[in-house]
Amino acid sequence: MKKRPAVVVTRRLPDAIETRLRELFDTRLNLEDKPLSPEELAEAVRTADVLVPTITDEIDAALLQQAGPNLKLIANFGNGVDNIDVAAAVARGITVTNTPGVLTEDTADMTMALILAVARRITEGAKVIPDGEWAGWSPTWMLGRRITGKRLGIVGMGRIGQALARRARAFGLSIHYHNRRHVPPKIEAELEATYWESLDQMLARMDIVSVNCPHTPATYHLLSARRLKLMKPDAILVNTARGEIIDEGALTKLIESGAIAGAGLDVFEEEPAVNPRLVRLAKQGKVVLLPHMGSATHEGRVAMGEKVIVNIKAFVDGHKPPDRVLPSML
Ligand code: 8YV
Repeated sequence: MKKRPAVVVTRRLPDAIETRLRELFDTRLNLEDKPLSPEELAEAVRTADVLVPTITDEIDAALLQQAGPNLKLIANFGNGVDNIDVAAAVARGITVTNTPGVLTEDTADMTMALILAVARRITEGAKVIPDGEWAGWSPTWMLGRRITGKRLGIVGMGRIGQALARRARAFGLSIHYHNRRHVPPKIEAELEATYWESLDQMLARMDIVSVNCPHTPATYHLLSARRLKLMKPDAILVNTARGEIIDEGALTKLIESGAIAGAGLDVFEEEPAVNPRLVRLAKQGKVVLLPHMGSATHEGRVAMGEKVIVNIKAFVDGHKPPDRVLPSML
């Protein structure tokens, strides 16, 4: 690959990152920050040596068919790569990288924030004073649920799941998890975490369930209608991973009927569209909805950008980029 490859960046990135990308490469930026249309995306893959997409770009097999011979690297700005058909890319000789590790703590913070927001009715309470509706303190008003002493079930005990577990322990929650495999014994002991091989059995016993696994074909609707029905009626569910992991329609119905107490969702199946019935539940204070903000910190986004640069630079210099994603990892 040439030393100054044509790098196409599909969305605005932090200033420092855009500046550095321009210094190093022949970089085309999207200063308007409007998601690229399918035609613009096709043009990008036809002309780029390196593509830097985000979650708002669908890099599927049909798009990759249109890629020019020069496209050799897709350096995703994001950890999750479910927006990219990695197998189709690799089959065409295109390397794919992501940005792991630098958004772990921020996403775990937001997950904890959602747990607290739902259990302690923070968003409902935060509206009362600005809406001019505070009639004064009352012993029986705005009561939420205590989280100390409750059981937290983490679905997916990778980096973010473990970072959440560390936080949750400080809040007095006991840690339970379901994962493809046990985490190393040292981590399990440190977190005093209980492993559940059966997701079904874990779901039936948890007070709070948090989804922290990647979205892959194997985790699509992992929390299916059947599984959601196993949850306790006073349980709450939070999701800062991907909307597709939960059957959102089924979850909405179960909350509407009172079969699940509430939910905190940062991600949705059809982003940026959100089921109007979920929005109604948010207005009733039963769910807290955030617009995919889990990793949205200045520090996090700069660190993600730096990972993108390091991956491109390593590739251009003829090395294996540090954050390669292989189909076998998904
Ligand atoms: C980003 C994320 O907002 O990295 C991820 O997987 O979900 C978020 O941190 C987004 O994916 C950027 O592409």
